[in-house]
Amino acid sequence: MTFIRSVVLGCGRYLPKKILTNHDLADIVDTSNEWIVQRTGIHRRHIAADNEVTSDLGTKAAECALANAGIQADTIDLIILATSTPDLTFPASAVHIQHNLGIRKGAAFDMQAVCSGFIYALSTADMYIQTGKAKRVLVIGAETFSRILDWEDRTTCVLFGDGAGAVILEGQESNGKMDDRGILTSHLRSDGIHREKLYVDGGPSKTGTTGHLRMEGQEVFKHAVGMITDVVDDAFAATGLKASDLDWFIPHQANERIINASAKKLGIPLEKVVKTVSKHGNTSAASIPLAICEAAEDGRLKQNDTVMLEAMGGGFTWGSVLLNW
Ligand code: UT7
Repeated sequence: MTFIRSVVLGCGRYLPKKILTNHDLADIVDTSNEWIVQRTGIHRRHIAADNEVTSDLGTKAAECALANAGIQADTIDLIILATSTPDLTFPASAVHIQHNLGIRKGAAFDMQAVCSGFIYALSTADMYIQTGKAKRVLVIGAETFSRILDWEDRTTCVLFGDGAGAVILEGQESNGKMDDRGILTSHLRSDGIHREKLYVDGGPSKTGTTGHLRMEGQEVFKHAVGMITDVVDDAFAATGLKASDLDWFIPHQANERIINASAKKLGIPLEKVVKTVSKHGNTSAASIPLAICEAAEDGRLKQNDTVMLEAMGGGFTWGSVLLNW
């Protein structure tokens, strides 16, 4: 019996040129390099130029992914952009990216699950591919969180950065075994009881403004490790794989302490954890594809490696994707 699996053809990333270090931030708010490094593991983050918008970042990451996959843009039949910082309220920034890439067919839409956005988008792309509704899907995570930060609030402005990453998935026939390439399983969760712990205090319907990010950091921290490990365990239960079968654990990059604690609880050695948070902070939906691309570019991530992706963020939303690269 043959199955259709969503196989990664290529990936790409883009980080804006401007770098903001912890020392730069100490000139803006009452903070220090020591505090930020000790509490989060972050050393610097990238900030989009005034004339750069989310779709520009996403387009550049997508162009890299197309080149990496060695395919033409017009062979893509679906674009899913995970973002919480769209260019405009509408149309979807995915449509801007579709236009920038010169694609005039198929469909493009945005997906909003904050830091879990890329996991939600990958899972959705996988459903389109498995059902035969799409053959090649461009999945992008792109954010300009610098535009929604309150630059006077030291408890949040030191944590986030801008960036974009993309992967291209293609439906390929599979024998359905766990060692074949492609997405093996995905698990999405949300629970709106936590919606006020991490949110933006503006929006088109409620305030008519864009608003600023607000977070009860400790509350998010308190729930993060449990939610992450639960949904990773769901992926293990669905596939029969276990932590020792993983070649790489590529988590959402919010805080190095959360990453380390999650890996420890799951029994995954730190040598198998891809960490990029020190270099670009929390880039929300862009953080996982940025980390994937870094590991692929530097040769750590190799074909057929078994990889666990996971994220948790505002809503709360959380989820995991287990795949063979
Ligand atoms: O993708 C999901 C999104 N978000 C997250 O995953 C973030 C989850 N939360 C966290 O990562 C952590 O809770 C933070 C990094 C946000 C904060 O770390 P913490 O260890 O939980 O610190 P705290 O909030 O308990 O604050 C400790 C102290 C406080 O001072 P007092 O009350 O003890 O005098 C804060 O006012 O640190 C102070 N503080 C700062 N000091 C210097 C808060 N922010 C800063 C800062 N610089 N930037």
